[in-house]
Amino acid sequence: VRYLENTVEPEEGIIPAYIMSDPAVYDLEHEKVFLKTWLFLGHESEIPNNGDFVTRDLAGYSVIVSRNQDGVIRAFYNMCTHRGMKLCRADKGNKARFTCPYHGFTFKNSGELIGVPMQKDIYGGKLDFEAMGLHQVTIETYKGLIFGTFNDTPQDFSEFLGDFKWYLDIAVGRTDMEVVGPPQKFIINSQWKIGADNFVSDSYHTMVTHGSIAKLGMVPNATYSKKGYQVHTENGHGCNIGMPNPDFAFPEELIPEYKAHLSPQQFDMMADLKNMIGTIFPNLSFLVSHTEVKGKLISNTTVRLWRPIAVDKMEVITWFLVEKNASEDWKHRSRESYILTFSPSGIFEQDDTEVFTDITGAASGHVPFAKNYTYNYTMGKHRVPVKDFLGPGIVYDDKFTEANSRSYYRYWLDLMKA
Ligand code: FES
Ligand code: FE
Repeated sequence: VRYLENTVEPEEGIIPAYIMSDPAVYDLEHEKVFLKTWLFLGHESEIPNNGDFVTRDLAGYSVIVSRNQDGVIRAFYNMCTHRGMKLCRADKGNKARFTCPYHGFTFKNSGELIGVPMQKDIYGGKLDFEAMGLHQVTIETYKGLIFGTFNDTPQDFSEFLGDFKWYLDIAVGRTDMEVVGPPQKFIINSQWKIGADNFVSDSYHTMVTHGSIAKLGMVPNATYSKKGYQVHTENGHGCNIGMPNPDFAFPEELIPEYKAHLSPQQFDMMADLKNMIGTIFPNLSFLVSHTEVKGKLISNTTVRLWRPIAVDKMEVITWFLVEKNASEDWKHRSRESYILTFSPSGIFEQDDTEVFTDITGAASGHVPFAKNYTYNYTMGKHRVPVKDFLGPGIVYDDKFTEANSRSYYRYWLDLMKA
């Protein structure tokens, strides 16, 4: 921790390469970040009916997220309380009760133990059912997003999101949204922070990394403009907002819905939005981007998790979200625009993940660590935040700055030292 403190200087824009590759840093992150903060589990619309469940990873451990017979969503550590077998081995399904594959203990989807084979005989009727319910995991939801934590005394969830809710409302809460299909997953040889960092502040890379896409005429060149804003709020959250946009890239018939869900200022921003890219600390990113599909500008919305698997490996999990009340045709075109761009086979995704894996490779080994090679995150340090913006937070009046990364690593370091 002392070494970290002496070598990571977020305000100065000095980030050493070893924090992307050192196993000791990775282990400390697990304890100080992933077991402490709120982490994304999924979206309420993935389990719309009573009995629906998904199994998800929370800080490296399996949890069951289930909607019980009263419609209440709960999460449980995916471990039988008898002798510890993983209770549910399916990714998703619908079940009122779960029966353990080892000895057949049965639990209701609200957690209570309700059945034990031959229990009167083999336990003499003395087994304490009440004490043997599933271990519940703390969850909270915001605008359909479900977050969980193993921390018994977590930061208040509403305070954790804080002012960043204002922007999240536009990205994922502008009206009732639903997840289409199962999340897409793929594994890459990349350190998890590189993705989170790219989405929190890096609009600058688009001109170069994604340059060939513009050259091919697949997106308008203007996509890569620095026009817009970069905003961060407390706790490391931040986003980049591409504005203005002469076209309204959302379903127009839903304007009354958007107005009912958003404040007038939020609606104004949304109506003028070209794209919005951000990260909720530590590893949930989101993206509202606009692509031309069959001659029409159309938006697509995704949230994505950079799930650490090892210091140099992560699983990228992407959920595609769409306006619940949009027409089927619009939903279809929006999905197409997602598949073309930021799905695992999307052209932007391919560009980015190649960069992420090469950064990871260069950070690995003893040389960058021992010599303390550092990255330069000083872009925009000379600039002064703007006042009187539509929304809250520290705001810069174009997207090309690394202010959000400096704020992200500041919060990361605070947690690592705690
Ligand atoms: Fe689950 Fe024994 S471990 S019933
Ligand atoms: Fe990119």
